[in-house]
Amino acid sequence: MKKTPFDEPKSLAWLLSYTLPETKIKPNVPHLSYAEAKQLPNLSKAEDLFRFRCSSCHSLGLEKGLGPGLAGVTKIRDRVWLKRWLKEPDKMLAEKDQIAVDLYNQYNKVLMPNLRLSDSDAEALIDYLDSTAKPKDHIH
Ligand code: HEC
Repeated sequence: MKKTPFDEPKSLAWLLSYTLPETKIKPNVPHLSYAEAKQLPNLSKAEDLFRFRCSSCHSLGLEKGLGPGLAGVTKIRDRVWLKRWLKEPDKMLAEKDQIAVDLYNQYNKVLMPNLRLSDSDAEALIDYLDSTAKPKDHIH
């Protein structure tokens, strides 16, 4: 059965509750109370931003996509540089910032877009990137 996530929520709920064998509500089994429902995952603002704006080009690991894998990036770049880069990569490249030029050449001259991030979004993203760095990404 093909359905799109943009379908009417009511119709999706109906399908899940009454038609699919796996999730179908069993007629004689008492329903659980909402108090017993699992907590929704807690997605921070920065994680949400990353998934929405960055993950199409960047992994949080070492795998390269359109752009570099970002594991450990907060260890190799200065915070001031990172913040400015997140806010205006286009200007940094135009000013021939050496790191920007090298990355640009290394990544097939695909320019990271200026996503017009606010200061607080850029800060939050840097903290998020820092928090996702795994121990194996560090140089011992
Ligand atoms: C359209 C693809 C694209 C998107 C979307 C994108 N980037 Fe990039 N990013 C790149 C490319 C390509 C580079 C390498 C430099 C260049 O070519 O401009 C890069 C470089 C970087 C670097 C520098 C890496 C290093 O080794 O110093 C960081 C940090 C970064 N991006 C973070 C982000 C974050 C955070 C977001 C989301 C807010 C984001 N990028 C969105 C393509 C993208």
